[in-house]
Amino acid sequence: MEKDYSKYFGPSMKDARKRINKNIETIRYELDEHLTNLGKEKTYLIKTYGCQGNEADSEKMAGILQQLGFQPTEIEEEADVILFNTCAIRETAESRVFGELGRIKKIKRHNPDLLIGICGCMPQEEKVVNTVKEKYPHIDLVFGTHNIHKLGEYLYDAYLTKEKVVEVFSEEGKIIEGIPSKRAHDRKAWVNIMYGCDEFCTYCIVPYTRGKERSRNPEDIIEEVKELAREGYQEVTLLGQNVNAYGKDLNIDYTFSNLLLDLWKIEIPRIRFTTSHPRDLDEDTIKVMAKGGNIMPHLHLPVQSGSNRILKKMNRKYTKEEYLEKVERLKNLIPSISITTDIIVGFPGETGQDFEETLDLVRKVDFEGAFTFIFSPREGTPAAKYVEDLDSETKKERLQRLNKLINEGYLKGNQRFEGMTVKVLVEGLSQKNNLLSGYTEHNKLVNFEGDKSLIGKIIDLKIEKAYTWHLRGIIVKDHS
Ligand code: SAH
Ligand code: SF4
Ligand code: F3S
Repeated sequence: MEKDYSKYFGPSMKDARKRINKNIETIRYELDEHLTNLGKEKTYLIKTYGCQGNEADSEKMAGILQQLGFQPTEIEEEADVILFNTCAIRETAESRVFGELGRIKKIKRHNPDLLIGICGCMPQEEKVVNTVKEKYPHIDLVFGTHNIHKLGEYLYDAYLTKEKVVEVFSEEGKIIEGIPSKRAHDRKAWVNIMYGCDEFCTYCIVPYTRGKERSRNPEDIIEEVKELAREGYQEVTLLGQNVNAYGKDLNIDYTFSNLLLDLWKIEIPRIRFTTSHPRDLDEDTIKVMAKGGNIMPHLHLPVQSGSNRILKKMNRKYTKEEYLEKVERLKNLIPSISITTDIIVGFPGETGQDFEETLDLVRKVDFEGAFTFIFSPREGTPAAKYVEDLDSETKKERLQRLNKLINEGYLKGNQRFEGMTVKVLVEGLSQKNNLLSGYTEHNKLVNFEGDKSLIGKIIDLKIEKAYTWHLRGIIVKDHS
């Protein structure tokens, strides 16, 4: 079992770019017997950064750890294993993690037996692995996105050898089914439908850190959702970097709209999905969404920019006009739909005119929310080599102007529910104001007074008042 990890040189972003047109095999995860009891009387803490994909991975790692006997803890000083599941999407995400890795050193000083690991997207970059090796000697474990199923083995080796365990694969391997998941919520669940991304938007590091697009078999997904429904889950969110490309790599004629329709038939109250790509979102999918039922009337459809020139430089493969056409189709077939988006400002070469085009598009769509970002060059991606001709003041100004408009959209999107009765999945009780909160079908946050026995239920609320970031509601009937 014991490997010589010192012979390992780290991942290669160049290799990660390769797309080998092979069929991806599916195998089942099995716990190796020698690992049982590895975590007996030990505790773990996982810190998650980044997207829902990372949250889902953290749940799988927690599942593996608990299967080995580890117990969860929230207290760093008490933990035997601390894992940082990291995100590489922007520079700020990475600096935050490096700050944390530095800070955690003093905890290790008090507890020399503590094992600290870094995993997720950052270790998929060779420069990160090198930095960790050189500057963070207190990190014991480095692995990436393609080998979380080997976590038990890595811990075993780390305990045995007391050496640094570093293993990151540049390329994706098989699809591993059956990794136990310790889910963070007991009423809402993430369900991966695919892994990786083949889009190669020029600014984005994800195709390098997550590998080739590969879809899970429909029957595995359907079975997982049915099982969640049996366990009493109220909501599933299907995950993929471009869910609309689902099935394209399978040897069967089965697309995202087919999957959605099959899940529409399952008795689970709510189905959401993220993220959609505007080019691949097709008529069939819009039609299935329009059937309503358990498919929620909210769509996150990242546009990134409203300028055709910039969209081309970003390699997004659609125009502003095509985007607006799809939005119109969505609004025609699903009149109440809420559309949200992602936008990057300050992409290299973005002129004042390009930015005005983005604002124009935002006004035309009436987005009800958006994640907005300043472009962050990611080493190894094409856009990192584009000439940056904008000063940071201009970028910040543009972000501020955009956010002002987006915030108006949040408020308008909330105001349309004033006076209406809506269904809310109750999620929790806020310590601060003793109010319950939950999300509507359109994914709007509602706060209201009520008993905490309502947590986990879907209830009717009348919306009394809309604010920018939330709604205030009141219970309309007795749900006890
Ligand atoms: N697959 C999804 C989400 C990818 S990451 C999609 O295609 O939309 C989430 C968001 O981060 C992206 O939509 C984009 O707006 C932003 N993003 C990605 N790379 C970035 C970069 N280098 N700089 C700034 N924002 C970035
Ligand atoms: Fe990145 Fe584009 Fe893939 Fe989204 S679709 S993950 S933005 S490359
Ligand atoms: Fe970040 Fe990796 Fe997700 S880079 S956004 S955690 S796929």
